[in-house]
Amino acid sequence: MRAVTASHSDPAALLHEVSAAVGAITRHLSVHQVLEVIVSSARRLVGADYAAIGIPDDDGGFAEFITDGIGEEQRLEIGPLPRQHGMLAAILTETEPIRLDDLRRDPRFRWWPKAHPAMSALLGVPIRDGEQILGIVVLTNDLGRPGFTAADTDLIELLASHAAIAITNARLYERSRELTVVEERNRLARELHDAVMQRLFSLRLSARAAGKLLPEDPAAARARLDEVEQLAAEAVAELRGVIVELRPADLDAHGLVETLRRHTTLLDRLHDTSVHFAVRSPVDLSRDGEVEVLRLVQEALGNAFRHAKARNVTLTIETERITVADDGLGFDADEAATRGLGLLSMRERAKALGGDLRLATAPGEGTVVTLILDTERDGRD
Ligand SMILES: Nc1ncnc2c1ncn2[C@@H]1O[C@H](COP(=O)(O)OP(=O)(O)OP(=O)(O)O)[C@@H](O)[C@H]1O
Ligand SMILES: [Mg+2]
Repeated sequence: MRAVTASHSDPAALLHEVSAAVGAITRHLSVHQVLEVIVSSARRLVGADYAAIGIPDDDGGFAEFITDGIGEEQRLEIGPLPRQHGMLAAILTETEPIRLDDLRRDPRFRWWPKAHPAMSALLGVPIRDGEQILGIVVLTNDLGRPGFTAADTDLIELLASHAAIAITNARLYERSRELTVVEERNRLARELHDAVMQRLFSLRLSARAAGKLLPEDPAAARARLDEVEQLAAEAVAELRGVIVELRPADLDAHGLVETLRRHTTLLDRLHDTSVHFAVRSPVDLSRDGEVEVLRLVQEALGNAFRHAKARNVTLTIETERITVADDGLGFDADEAATRGLGLLSMRERAKALGGDLRLATAPGEGTVVTLILDTERDGRD
C-alpha cells in the first residue's frame, strides 16, 4: 500500500507537508534523532514502502544506517550494517540523484542479504554539504509497485538540503556538549585539588607535629592527633562528595530525590554541621533536568560546607523550587561573583532548566540559594 501522501497536484498541501518535515528535522538536537526524523519524513513525503539513511564512516562501512518501513525483527534478521558497495556506493559517489524503476536490472546492483525485502523502484539522493557527502537517503518500493517520479526526486533533494544543515547543526551541538563534559571534568579535578589536597597537606603537617611533640608533651601531641582525625574525616567527605558528583549513574538507580537524600545523609554523617532534608512535594524533571539539578544542589551544598562554617544546612525540595539554606557566615554576593565558578555555573544550570536562581545572603546572615523550577507558577504565588 502506498502510504497517504501529499497530492503532488495540490501545491498548498505539498508545501505544508514539506514545511512540516523540515520543521521536524530542525527541531531535534541529537544527530540520531535528526536522522530518524529525516528517514521517516522522506518516506512519508513520497509515499515510499521503505526508506533508509546511511552515514558513511571512513572505513568503507556506515557509521549509521537507519531504516523506516522494515520491522525490528526483520532488521535483525537482515544482519549487520551494509558496506558501501553496489548501489549504496553509487549513490555515495554520484553527484546527482539516482532514480531506477527496477534496481535489480542495474549493473551496479550486487545482491541482497538474506531476509532483505525484494524491492524494485529506487530513488537515491546524496545529502551534501558543499563537496562533502554527509550521507544518503534511499527510498525503495516493493516489487510491482510504481517507480518514483521527477517530482519525488525534487522533493527529496529539497529535504536533503535541509537535512544537511540539520545534521551539521546537531553535530556541532553534540560537540559543544562534549566540551561541556570536558570542562566539568576539569572543574572536578580542580575541586579535588583544592579541597582534598589542601586537607591532606595539613593532615601531614599535623601528623608530623604530633610525632615531634609526643616525647616532651603528650597532651599537645594528642590535640594534634585530634586534628589529624578531623582533617582525615573532612578529606573523606570532600572525596565522597566529588565521587558522588562523578556518578550521576546514581540518578538512574534511585532517582533525584533519593540520590539527594543519600548525599545529604552522607554529608551529615561526615561533618559536624547538621544536614536536614525535606521533601514537601514531588519533582517532575527529565533525565537531563535531574542531572542539572543534582549538580546545582551539590555545588550549593559544597559552598555551604566549604565557605559558610554553618551549624545547619537544609535542603528543601518542592515541585516549583529547591532550596539550600545555611545559617553560616553569609557573604557579599557582588564581591564574591568573581571568586569562583560555582555561582556562575549554578546560574547557567538554572537557565538551562528554564528556571531561575535566587541568592539571598549578606555577611553574618547565612545564605539561601533557591532554584526556581517553574517561573510561571512562582510569579503567581
Ligand atoms: N554558602 C556560602 N556561605 C558563605 N560564603 C559563600 C557561600 N557560597 C559562596 N560563598 C562565597 O562566594 C564565593 C564564590 O562562590 P563560588 O561557588 O562561585 O566559588 P568557589 O566556591 O570559591 O569556587 P568553585 O569555582 O570551586 O565553586 C566563595 O568563594 C565564597 O566566598
Ligand atoms: Mg563553589
